[in-house]
Amino acid sequence: MSTANPDNRTAIITGATSGLGYETALKLAATGWRVILTGRNDQKGQQALTLIKKQLPEATIEYQHLDLSSLESVKTFASQINEQQQTLDLLINNAGVMSPPQRKLTVDGFELQLGTNYLGHFALTALLLPLLRQAPAPRVVNVSSIAHRHGRIQLDDPNWERRYRPFPAYAQSKLAMLIFAQELQRRSAANHWGLLSTAAHPGIAETPLFSSGPGDQGVLNRLTQWALPFISQSAAAGAEPILLAALSDQASPGGYYGPQGFREIKGPAGVAVISKNARDPVTAARLWELSEQLTGIKWPDDSDPS
Ligand SMILES: NC(=O)c1ccc[n+]([C@@H]2O[C@H](COP(=O)([O-])OP(=O)(O)OC[C@H]3O[C@@H](n4cnc5c(N)ncnc54)[C@H](OP(=O)(O)O)[C@@H]3O)[C@@H](O)[C@H]2O)c1
Repeated sequence: MSTANPDNRTAIITGATSGLGYETALKLAATGWRVILTGRNDQKGQQALTLIKKQLPEATIEYQHLDLSSLESVKTFASQINEQQQTLDLLINNAGVMSPPQRKLTVDGFELQLGTNYLGHFALTALLLPLLRQAPAPRVVNVSSIAHRHGRIQLDDPNWERRYRPFPAYAQSKLAMLIFAQELQRRSAANHWGLLSTAAHPGIAETPLFSSGPGDQGVLNRLTQWALPFISQSAAAGAEPILLAALSDQASPGGYYGPQGFREIKGPAGVAVISKNARDPVTAARLWELSEQLTGIKWPDDSDPS
């Protein structure tokens, strides 16, 4: 397998210490990309790095600490990257947690899934925008989920202060990621940022997400865990739609990709269905505004409304 990288293209993948992020990193490194793996657990990060280097000794790959549940960590990482890199060709916003049974908060006081899965990525992408704009054909890929179909953006209670429900909170965060991908594309076009913003989901893929997420809580979760090997595909197969969204010349602005089998659960990668609630530009604009308020991070606005 060739690991030459004639274009010296660089990709950053969040949550690349296991599952889909790891598999995506492995594939990108194998096709010659310079890959920066990121994660919150440095030991797992070094292990992932060692594992990839063992398979691809010539790969240009490194690990850097990035905890999406802390805006301080996001800012530190982004300023380091801005100092170290000349350009950034690809950002894959993949890290995520699923359905902790009890409501948990990030360092900044956001509900854990909203904060980690969405707001951390919203802030990260904004802070890396100048570097992305230096690349000839920059791309941002947001990892969403089938669960986005069940999501609703609670603009009046995004952090589930009233009544926390684990799965709806997960679904909201994944819906937010899909809305973000499309709104980023619209704003890039309006502001001439030159980004291609896409999204992808893996169907149901066998990764540590299920064991480190809901855990052994409730009959439904136990059943899901038991049935997982029968209904899911491998993490490598789950990474295919992400790779399609990241690499394909056919990927369209704001496009969404996932498995093509029954209900998009598994199968070869192709175009996925974006639910109606993810296509509403009014909700998208309001979510963007709310996200800027919550994170305190303002995106540039060079668009001319006239
Ligand atoms: N597996 C599926 O069937 C499925 C379906 C739909 C969508 N997804 C999405 O796919 C993405 C990847 O999940 P996965 O299935 O590959 O599960 P995974 O193996 O558990 O990967 C999640 C990654 O995110 C990292 N992470 C969690 N919290 C973080 C934080 N605060 N800061 C930085 N990194 C953090 C994890 O690191 P640690 O190991 O340190 O926790 C891990 O590297 C998630 O966004 C998930 O919502 C997965």
